Amino acid sequence: MKKNFYIPLIPVSLLALILGMWAGLQRMGWSLPAMNLALAHGPLMVSGFLGTLVMLERAVALQRGWMFTPPALTGLGWMLSLALPGQPLGALLFTLGSLGGIAILAVIVRRETHIYTVTMLVGVVVWFAGNVLWLSGKAIFQIVFAWQAFLILTIVGERLELNRVLRPTPRALLLFKVAAGIFLGGVILSVVDLGWGARVSGAGMLLLTVWSLRYDIAIRNLRHRLPLTRYIAWCLFLGFVWMGVAGVVNLVFGRLVAGPLYDAAIHAVFVGFVISMTFGHAPIIFPALLQTQIVFSRWFYIHLALLHASLVVRLIGNLANDVLLRKWGGMINSLAIVLFLGMTVVSLVRGKK
Ligand code: HEM
Repeated sequence: MKKNFYIPLIPVSLLALILGMWAGLQRMGWSLPAMNLALAHGPLMVSGFLGTLVMLERAVALQRGWMFTPPALTGLGWMLSLALPGQPLGALLFTLGSLGGIAILAVIVRRETHIYTVTMLVGVVVWFAGNVLWLSGKAIFQIVFAWQAFLILTIVGERLELNRVLRPTPRALLLFKVAAGIFLGGVILSVVDLGWGARVSGAGMLLLTVWSLRYDIAIRNLRHRLPLTRYIAWCLFLGFVWMGVAGVVNLVFGRLVAGPLYDAAIHAVFVGFVISMTFGHAPIIFPALLQTQIVFSRWFYIHLALLHASLVVRLIGNLANDVLLRKWGGMINSLAIVLFLGMTVVSLVRGKK
């Protein structure tokens, strides 16, 4: 097998992101040309883009042939879900891909059984469970906490792993388990009682935020002398703050099924937390996947600032029920992501020279 045979999965995942943004903007009320993708938005983003990228990263790190099947399944899944709208084939492939994700994480946990690997394993188990429920006919708003939990637990698990250098005390680890346990309890509860589930998950998100702001090494690195380390620290810090905002919105409003408040509650996590973390992780993951270097540029702060400022605008629009603010917030969120993709490509090309 050729060494870099998996490279096409990177554009497959990024194409899902681009189409997902297109779909999100259509869903917001922007009349964009081409087919109407609005209903495909959530699955494209969560499983098509992030599911594929996260599984690919694991497979490349462990270098076992079968581990490339799960990202290939989720990649094929989004294509089929667009090619055959209304058919369950895409959702079925997402579900199989997430099942494969459990197998990958199980190998990782067996190699190294630790709270951080177990946290990441629980994240993919919840993603799989959410996909099964969605496949069996539940609406996305009923399982959206499971999809959020996949990304939140994957990210906080990874952060915990990277924080090993700080040697967290047993007390800090216990507090992490309590926060993650409350969050997970809320996610499970949300399937049977969305109102209480949302509130308990919200409390869990808030606790995970407080924990991260107190114990994550990123906070110490906000003034680091290395520019890249400092930039990553800002991505992480702002991401944590948004998880806290999502926690408050969920605690206050509880059951949300559509509309501006729903948009605020879920995108504080999906855009504020997850995309900011992706911005911070990109300078590490893309060089690893492409076996090249990245040249850091101060211009990276432009897409970071644009993302967070436009999310503030979007949330104000949502809370004040101002359609125009919300629409422009969403549009600039998307432009910030496009800018990030462009900057990343330029920096990788510069790194190759
Ligand atoms: C960056 C630009 C984005 C835009 C413009 C956008 C737009 C939207 C809109 C308008 C909705 C419908 C909310 C409502 O019911 O009123 C929505 C739902 C959703 N979005 Fe986004 N979004 C974006 C990013 C993301 C990202 C990055 C993710 C995931 C990582 C994501 C995941 C979801 C999910 C799961 C739903 C729920 C879908 C459903 O209930 O059918 N979005 N988005």
